Amino acid sequence: MVPCTIRPSLKLSERVRVKDALIFSLSTKVAMAAKIIDGKHVSQVLREEMKKRTQNLLQKNIHPGLAVILVGEDPASQVYVRNKAKACEDIGVHSRVIRLAGDTSEADLLEQIESLNQDPSIHGILVQLPLPAHIDSGKVLETISPSKDVDGFHRESVGALVTGHAVFYPCTPHGVIKLLEFYKLPVEGLHAVVIGRSNIVGKPVALMLLERGATVTICTSRTKDLKSFTRQADIVVVAVGKPHLLTTDMVKSGAVVVDVGINRLDSGKLVGDVDYENVSEVAGSITPVPGGVGPMTITMLLENTLKAAEAL
Ligand code: GUN
Repeated sequence: MVPCTIRPSLKLSERVRVKDALIFSLSTKVAMAAKIIDGKHVSQVLREEMKKRTQNLLQKNIHPGLAVILVGEDPASQVYVRNKAKACEDIGVHSRVIRLAGDTSEADLLEQIESLNQDPSIHGILVQLPLPAHIDSGKVLETISPSKDVDGFHRESVGALVTGHAVFYPCTPHGVIKLLEFYKLPVEGLHAVVIGRSNIVGKPVALMLLERGATVTICTSRTKDLKSFTRQADIVVVAVGKPHLLTTDMVKSGAVVVDVGINRLDSGKLVGDVDYENVSEVAGSITPVPGGVGPMTITMLLENTLKAAEAL
């Protein structure tokens, strides 16, 4: 912000006028700051509704259940898995966390999944990624029964998403779309630029925006002159994992900015891929990190687990 002073040589009436003008310009600036897309709040609202759905299922003698498999001891994965189990308990969904040693064989893991596929008390199965290098993740994801594929990563689920017949949308992209819906942010006919091409976020979120009538451009962190694309965007979704990738000069005034990145700086601070402080002065709406897309991922996992149980 440009520092402003009021010259003491001005007459009192002039000083009052200058002060009023300054206050007006500051309040205009405040009014122009982006609306916060509050994923924590939306998650709370949605999870309250989900508690009722769990109760309805229990009345039909169906206790929704999610199995989460964690192989190895990756610290971040351990936190994610703990949070998923806690979120299940909070809405009355039964969770079973299966912790396997880092040297578990691929065959043993596949056997475990096949047993869960047959288990009537389990409606959703999630294998926490990344898996140790000696295990073929593709093979593991293909072994999960598509009817219990609450991550939406099975090739059958991906194919269904591509053709507009998805049963389980992948959780993070689903969370992004739910946030846009909750805040009634339009998508149809608008230009959405997605930065990131991962199977977990970039590709599925691009497809989901396309399904909702957006014109979609998929960029990556290596796109030449990335700014020339993002500046055209009405909606920007960033999912790369690079702090401060999206800066003010790359964003059109009033655009919706969705930050899927989660990066831990050397200082210990958690930040997204967006220069939040500055971009929030240009964007129309923006997700913070933490508290934006993050909480929605688990909320959508709960949504998919309930959906799987309700389909019985
Ligand atoms: N690791 C990071 N994100 C995800 C996710 O959405 N699902 C699974 N299974 N693993 C992850």
